[in-house]
Amino acid sequence: MGRVNTAAIRRMKKEGRKVVCTTAYDAAFAALADGAGVDLILVGDSMGNAVLGFESTIPVTVEMMAHHCAAVVRARPSALVVADVPFAVAGGSFERLLDACAVFMQQSGVDAVKIEGGEDMAPKIAALCAAGIPVMGHIGLLPQRVLQLGGYRRFGKSEVERVQLIADAKAVEAAGAFCIVGEMICHDTAEAISAALNVPLIGIGSGLGCDGQIIVSTDILGLTPGGGPPFAKVYADLGSAASKAFGDYAADVREGRFPVTTPKQ
Ligand code: KIV
Repeated sequence: MGRVNTAAIRRMKKEGRKVVCTTAYDAAFAALADGAGVDLILVGDSMGNAVLGFESTIPVTVEMMAHHCAAVVRARPSALVVADVPFAVAGGSFERLLDACAVFMQQSGVDAVKIEGGEDMAPKIAALCAAGIPVMGHIGLLPQRVLQLGGYRRFGKSEVERVQLIADAKAVEAAGAFCIVGEMICHDTAEAISAALNVPLIGIGSGLGCDGQIIVSTDILGLTPGGGPPFAKVYADLGSAASKAFGDYAADVREGRFPVTTPKQ
């Protein structure tokens, strides 16, 4: 099978196939996700919380993103690789946004970019698509606006929010996005958004009515200190396994059982 492209992601909705997406921030985990048959790898700015030790995605810069995107691309995945456009870049001048996307595509080698925002961001998404840059949208909870929101919450419960979210999704699709992430959206509203779109709605905390799912990889691998969000299922507790391995190693070093030597050495 060849590399997944944006046309293949769009087609999956028509064919009734769920789009499987996750995040990766380095070559090792990108290779593991890709080997398991994931369709799309997002180098999310969630790496701020997930692996860089920040408290939110806000401190993540274009330079940090470019470095981690290049590592993921070096795994040579068959999955489509998408770079998250970090905080304050899409909201600034179009030239700065275009420059950041050019860095991700030309220097890091990703296939597409993701931008948080709905109707407000549609003109810039259209201009990027016109410049040949494939764009994944992101509506609902926008983690880059968490300080403005005053915390994380679910979206699309009230009629006003439901109507706005459908308008956001349609505007981002009309601008040319090949799929749209819908984060923390009430499940019935997410279903309505999916029904209103031709491109896949990729849910995160938005229920089964979406056309695919994305999850932060560290949340399903037991690597999020204190546990991930309630909707994330832990498929493997790598955190406990790694902690035990480090403990066993430390004990072996202290008690002279490591390194293991053979008579020849
Ligand atoms: O940064 C990220 O990982 C994301 C996902 C939560 C969709 O935006």
